[in-house]
Amino acid sequence: MPLPSRLLAAATAAGAAGLGYAYVESQWFALRVASVPLLPPGATPLRVLHVSDLHLTLKQRRKHDWVRGLAALEPDLVVSTGDNLAHMQAVPVVLSAYGELLDRPGVFVLGSNDYFAPTPRNPFGYLRRDQGKRHVHSPALPWGELCDGFQSAGWVDLSNRRDTVKVDDLTIAFVGVDDAHLGYDLLDEVAGPADTSADLRIGVTHAPYLRVLDQYARDGYELVMAGHTHGGQVCLPGKGALVTNCDLEPARAKGLHRHPASSRDGDPGTSWLHVSAGLGTSPYAQLRFCCRPEATLLTLLPQDSRRV
Ligand SMILES: [Fe+2]
Repeated sequence: MPLPSRLLAAATAAGAAGLGYAYVESQWFALRVASVPLLPPGATPLRVLHVSDLHLTLKQRRKHDWVRGLAALEPDLVVSTGDNLAHMQAVPVVLSAYGELLDRPGVFVLGSNDYFAPTPRNPFGYLRRDQGKRHVHSPALPWGELCDGFQSAGWVDLSNRRDTVKVDDLTIAFVGVDDAHLGYDLLDEVAGPADTSADLRIGVTHAPYLRVLDQYARDGYELVMAGHTHGGQVCLPGKGALVTNCDLEPARAKGLHRHPASSRDGDPGTSWLHVSAGLGTSPYAQLRFCCRPEATLLTLLPQDSRRV
């Protein structure tokens, strides 16, 4: 075989192997653990399970069972940051996946993929810069049914709302917005100083657009939780995420960071930002590379303890 043909064959084989691995990684679910000192001194640590971006279809049994198994962690609080659905009939499957987690205190917001059915796309389109195109013309998903399921279990809908949730002895002031990626966020309606009489203040958003993070930090929310980025989904070894699908820079595509990014512990008017890399992908591009699907158990510690 001539050299160019051999090179082409080798490149084709390497590409096929890469795609095969990326599919396997998309099924390689991981529980990430992190902790952050945010509670009043002397408070009992609070274990918060952050779940995001399931993109669940009817046949993804492995993902369903993995999420369902998270109930064994017995978290004190569950925060769901949207993009649960990827099929018109997926609501019962999603509620079954959350299972006994629905018996725990919980809050939620929705993402664009809770509103509109997924459509076939270029699997590498995710790596392009945001073109501003939103897929709002595909069939509407039964997001109301999903909200009913969450709310009938006692979870609090934070879409463009502020609310207070009592978890054991702690009073937590929450703020949330509807999906900022679709422009559904009504920031002006929820803006304003956070409740300083609460023990903790948490802002929730599906998509971590800077306008949302800035407002929450200004208003005094010590922790912001978001999803949407998929952690970059297809990342470069040694470099990490290339894109976030919003205006957050790739360096903060997942994990625990400060916001503003330049701030440090103890700076006033800043937040901790936790971005979940999420558990799913579009059903038409089930590929993740150097970015395992994840949920996070985030332990909030009293401020007089050291981070672990
Ligand atoms: Fe998503």
